[in-house]
Amino acid sequence: MSDVLSLIDRLSRDRSLTEEEYEVLVSGYTPEAASFAASLASSVRREYYGDEVFMRGLMEISNYCRNDCFYCGIRRSNRSCSRYRLTPSEIISCASKGYGLGFRTFVLQGGEDPYYTDDVLCSIVSSIKSMHPDCAVTLSMGERSYESYAALFSAGADRYLLRHETASAPHYAKLHPSSMSFENRMRCLKDLRSIGYQVGCGFMVGSPYQTPSDLASDLKFIETFRPDMCGIGPFIPHKDTPFGSESRGSAEMTCYLLSLIRLIFPPVLLPATTALGTIDPLGREKGLKAGANVVMPNLSPVEVREKYTLYDNKICTGEEASECVSCLSSRIKNAGYRLVTDRGDIRKEKINGKV
Ligand code: 5AD
Ligand code: FES
Repeated sequence: MSDVLSLIDRLSRDRSLTEEEYEVLVSGYTPEAASFAASLASSVRREYYGDEVFMRGLMEISNYCRNDCFYCGIRRSNRSCSRYRLTPSEIISCASKGYGLGFRTFVLQGGEDPYYTDDVLCSIVSSIKSMHPDCAVTLSMGERSYESYAALFSAGADRYLLRHETASAPHYAKLHPSSMSFENRMRCLKDLRSIGYQVGCGFMVGSPYQTPSDLASDLKFIETFRPDMCGIGPFIPHKDTPFGSESRGSAEMTCYLLSLIRLIFPPVLLPATTALGTIDPLGREKGLKAGANVVMPNLSPVEVREKYTLYDNKICTGEEASECVSCLSSRIKNAGYRLVTDRGDIRKEKINGKV
């Protein structure tokens, strides 16, 4: 067996490698290594989740953002971005529509928009939770204070997604302006965990300046942090950003990393992301086969979808939510899995063939 294959084999038994070994895995990518990792990842995924795929209704509630991340299309310096925000009543009616389509998790995602004060967001969260007590509410609204996260948790928010973007501080500084700090990002993730949220981190694959050693730090971070969710997708340039002419990440490397993450922490909830579906028409199916078990169809009103462009050529911007659900459900079925209506919480134990 090659070095890389034997490291993958050891990872699937020990769930841990050194950072140097992770780097060997990343630099040693070959299609053969990826398919070996995918077969081990699929079988461990099956032990925890059978053939189930969970869906999350994604609501892109605002594209106003006070930050200026170099990679992101809704960064505040992008004057060509046409800004919008959904009102509390639009968000609540979007959730009710999603409930009717079978969604039991709503993800409220947006830029860091000061309009959504704690009072405004808490009242949206508690309205959704009181109307749909069987649903989970996930927030993905960026960096906030401990007090703010705690208030939102008390209002009923169950989960919080905040991608760490890169676990290497020097790399973080190349992707963000100096007003943003790696330390604060990590502080947020730790606060969220200590408050009691199910926490999601994640990173982009193939972002500018990323090295195999940076990706090895991401894998080591996931091994030690053990996030409930982990969102990874390829970096895709957006024309109106400083990284507009950088090259994009690859679907193959993204899928390989999905498999490695599944092997590192088998229960993790791993989405097959829209970005993966954007760079490859069968990207989401490939992601599921590599070990992903979550999809996040878009529930935002069609009128605003085109405006939430983090990167160029994003898919599903013209479809109604119901079209996305039926499209995804048939894609998932063709890939050999089953889309289920469930809150889709993390399962910390194996199911012993019960699903
Ligand atoms: N390409 C891919 N992913 C991106 N994101 C932001 N901009 C891009 C881009 N150009 C991701 C970031 C962010 C998430 C909401 O979207 O990882 O955390
Ligand atoms: Fe939206 Fe296919 S998932 S159209």
